[in-house]
Amino acid sequence: MRNTVAQETLRTAALVVAAGSGARAGAHLPKQYVEVAGKPLLRHALEPFMRHARVDMVQVVVGSGQEELFAQATQGLELPAPVIGGATRQQSVLNGLRALATLGERAPEAVLIHDAARPFLPTAIIDALLATLGEADGGLPALEVVDTIKRVDEHGIIVETPPRASLRAAQTPQAFRMREILSAHEAVAGLQVEFSDDAQVAEHAGMKVKAIMGAAQLRKITHAEDFRWAAEMAAKLAGDADTDT
Ligand code: CTP
Ligand code: MG
Repeated sequence: MRNTVAQETLRTAALVVAAGSGARAGAHLPKQYVEVAGKPLLRHALEPFMRHARVDMVQVVVGSGQEELFAQATQGLELPAPVIGGATRQQSVLNGLRALATLGERAPEAVLIHDAARPFLPTAIIDALLATLGEADGGLPALEVVDTIKRVDEHGIIVETPPRASLRAAQTPQAFRMREILSAHEAVAGLQVEFSDDAQVAEHAGMKVKAIMGAAQLRKITHAEDFRWAAEMAAKLAGDADTDT
């Protein structure tokens, strides 16, 4: 069993991957730079980390050639220079982890790996994820699924129907100890398999990763119509904040 006291003092970084092209969203620029409620998605995604007392640094990974977009989107925020990402999300995360590992004394001990395309991260989820490092090797927010999920073969023929109660839809951020997730990523870097999230990389290394309760507001912006949802969510969250005060 891991020590929860130690886990509370881990130097922690948020690693936000924003190096995708946003092909499915079909916007005129990569979706993470599209504005929602007057702010680029990326800036929405960064703010919960910038405000959080337990997060010591926020590192962004951007696409090659997107440095200017990054500079505009993050104007006024205190951030280190961005790391340049790769052709896949997995490669972008690896580039980010490697850069964090070179910081020596200032290198983080825990890392929260997050998609820039998820703009509305509840603060309580950051706390709950960091708490998982006291009892597991990693943690992620996940939602129960409402549809029955089928596994199909290349012809669309159903191969399996896993029991729905055991299924979860994975979200980010995903929390790990820095050294463990870096070596897990290095171990799969040469394989011809693409891992779609970091928990899968961790599982491959035999790490125990705990799913905690995710949130509907953590939805990833993927398609054009998701921007309409994002605008409504931003308005709702702004309204909630007003009634809180
Ligand atoms: N990402 C990344 N580097 C890549 C691909 C994706 O950093 N080479 C990031 C995206 O910027 C995004 C997150 O990973 O924040 C989740 O990926 P996804 O939603 O698939 O974004 P895109 O790859 O940009 O979109 P699409 O697949 O539609 O092109
Ligand atoms: Mg993608």
